[in-house]
Amino acid sequence: MDITVNRVKSLNGEIIIPADKSITHRAFMFAALTKGQVKITNFSKGADCMSTLNIIEQLGCNIKYLSEQELIIDSVSAIKKPSDKLNCGNSGTTTRLISGILAGQNFNSSLYGDESLSKRPMKRIITPLELMGAKFNHKDYKLPIDIYGTQLKGIDYISPLASAQVKSCLLLAGLNAEGVTSFTEPYKSRNHTELMFEYMGADINTQGNKVVIKKSCLNPVDINVCGDISSAAFFIAAALIVPESEIIIKNVGINETRSGMLDVLKTMNADIELFNKRVISNEKVADIKVRYSDLKATNIQGEIIPRLIDEIPIIAVLATQAEGTTIIKDAQDLRNKEADRITAIKTELSKLGADIQETQDGLIINGKTPLNGDCSIECYHDHRIAMSAFIAGLICKKLIKINEFQWVNISFPEFLELFHRINNLG
Ligand code: S3P
Repeated sequence: MDITVNRVKSLNGEIIIPADKSITHRAFMFAALTKGQVKITNFSKGADCMSTLNIIEQLGCNIKYLSEQELIIDSVSAIKKPSDKLNCGNSGTTTRLISGILAGQNFNSSLYGDESLSKRPMKRIITPLELMGAKFNHKDYKLPIDIYGTQLKGIDYISPLASAQVKSCLLLAGLNAEGVTSFTEPYKSRNHTELMFEYMGADINTQGNKVVIKKSCLNPVDINVCGDISSAAFFIAAALIVPESEIIIKNVGINETRSGMLDVLKTMNADIELFNKRVISNEKVADIKVRYSDLKATNIQGEIIPRLIDEIPIIAVLATQAEGTTIIKDAQDLRNKEADRITAIKTELSKLGADIQETQDGLIINGKTPLNGDCSIECYHDHRIAMSAFIAGLICKKLIKINEFQWVNISFPEFLELFHRINNLG
């Protein structure tokens, strides 16, 4: 689906942001491990989370929809050998987390994925899982991968990467391994696994950047998934750069391991207010009011990077509208996402007239530059590049065409509908 995006007058109104993708993956997988029934309310309907749901169904869970917003995962009998290979689609989170579960089962399984996922690095999970005793067959640490299930043993793993996917893979393996498993990372990555494990009664402890887990069971407790700050980020950015905008985004997860963008926006002089703060299923949540702002450039590097890793493409769009030079460093893992996001964002924003340079581990962006448009944008099979381009298109002088915009469905199928709700056509 190719679309065109026009300059808009202003954005106004209220939206409720759909459920968090990271938390939904975990809710689906952890429910499958409970040997009970778990009701999940407000799950993500993006294609990535549907890949996870299909896999746990193939592993023997019964899925019953109560409504569009609510389902029950029944895993009363333990998960069992699937009759077919398991399709992870485009989803790195599905692949890496489910591997931690499957490596410790008493059956074999095979994972595969789409073209983009088949290029992504899996050594980061295979190496530590092998240290725990896991056995795999793969070519060059990429999908497709065969997993030979076996009893795993706990290890103390010091990760070279700050990665929630690697951490969660090892914690899932550790949940079912003999003894104690610990994972230490250089900076703290998102901690949804730790929070949900705690909520479901696992024997887990966090000290700074180290998490320790002992073999334990998960209780079948109901889970309500809060809205996704990584989806909200696109509308926050839109309201900040489209003149005369003021919007309210409701039910946004503000877990501090995910909310790095809010910290950065403060340094950029953004007019943002958080209110109605609460806790839902062990996750902090708030409503957010955003107004058009005169943005200033900023520097982003070090410990904050994992706290905003998925928001860097849209922050780059904001930086084109901020006075001064924005420097983003230490973000080399962006080259291993659904696309090489450093090159993708540099190439596509340059087409619009942005002053942007690529470095090995980040971007340098000089603002404020008017964006021209009158061109075709590629999204590289990457949902976040597609949405970032869309938001840039709202302030371009001429219209832009975005090719294959359907990639948005990976995380945010409701994107266009919600956009139309706040677009004030004047
Ligand atoms: C995710 C972790 C991040 C993030 C991804 C989702 C998760 O990846 O980029 O979109 O749900 O654990 P890394 O942990 O590999 O950085």
